[in-house]
Amino acid sequence: MYSRIAGTGSYLPKKILTNHDLEKLVDTSDEWIRTRTGISQRHVAAEGETTTDLAEHAARRAMDAAGVLPSDIDLICVGTTTPDLVFPNVGTLLQDRLGIHGCPAFSMEAACTGFVYALSVADKFVRLGEAKCALVVGAETLTRIIDWNDRGTCVLFADGAGAVVLQPSSEPGILSTRLHSDGKYKDLLAYPDGVSKGFKLVREGKASVQMKGNEVYKVAVNTLGALVTETLSANNISKTQLDWLIPHQANIRIIEAIAKRLDLPMERVIVTIDTQGNTSAASVPLALDTGIRDGRVQRGQLLLLEAFGGGFTWGSALIRY
Ligand code: ACO
Repeated sequence: MYSRIAGTGSYLPKKILTNHDLEKLVDTSDEWIRTRTGISQRHVAAEGETTTDLAEHAARRAMDAAGVLPSDIDLICVGTTTPDLVFPNVGTLLQDRLGIHGCPAFSMEAACTGFVYALSVADKFVRLGEAKCALVVGAETLTRIIDWNDRGTCVLFADGAGAVVLQPSSEPGILSTRLHSDGKYKDLLAYPDGVSKGFKLVREGKASVQMKGNEVYKVAVNTLGALVTETLSANNISKTQLDWLIPHQANIRIIEAIAKRLDLPMERVIVTIDTQGNTSAASVPLALDTGIRDGRVQRGQLLLLEAFGGGFTWGSALIRY
């Protein structure tokens, strides 16, 4: 038994912030941001618009694409680092929006790798026969935890959501998922406050994403390079068999380095970072949905999804779409 992607959906908030808008906020330039990151613009949630709001739009679109109703869903698994509330979790809030009652619904925190983690868990539920119609979402309002005076981070992050519906199938399907993490890197990329820290920094107005960008960059390139090699060899797949790389959209230079490692031309990589920025856990399902809806990603093709984020966490999914 495999799990198979029956449908995908995504959603971006309406408000767009361009690099030129950011030039008015911090000492930066459109040229610097584009050449160092590949980003030209990003979407930002409206005041009052929450992660669950974005997730609901993406989820409904994925269910429409899969031809299923909310009442068919029997598992909800959300990757997010920016939940609406401490609890109930975003999975449960989404469940309520969809009018579903009783099925397991939860969120997973793995920063930018959140969707790949959620997909891996949902895949196991489906393969074990414990779910027949799983809704897997990556959704974030990361701009809410950014210091808009910090040019090292505020130019990167963005908001959005992406979703897939997984159903059982005798044909692959998700061929494998590979998850990793290493907490020794916890200080390179973090939001250093929370419930049991007493929200001290939040109360003092000093809480925001902290990132040692240069060091994160180096570890990301090395780690993702090793991850894609490991994923292919564990599945006895050669680079030439891949149709699409669907990467986490953190930095175009990181994406290009991984494509090069796979000998894939950039025409075979789904890139959304230019218009969407880094939407953290939403970026992989957003890129997947973009490639499917514009007709590039076709049924039967072999897809390699990968992500890397705070923790550090990293993971991949090899999928016969
Ligand atoms: N505009 C203009 N100048 C800037 C900006 C900016 N927005 N940001 C930094 N600079 C300056 C720096 O101050 C520095 O100036 P200096 O030389 O005078 O000190 C110079 O530009 C170079 O800075 P670097 O940090 O070395 O620039 P780099 O080329 O490494 O690019 C970046 C920075 C884009 C952040 C890059 O390091 C990166 O993408 N890192 C990885 C991010 C990532 O992958 N995050 C993980 C996923 S996210 C998650 O999990 C939530």
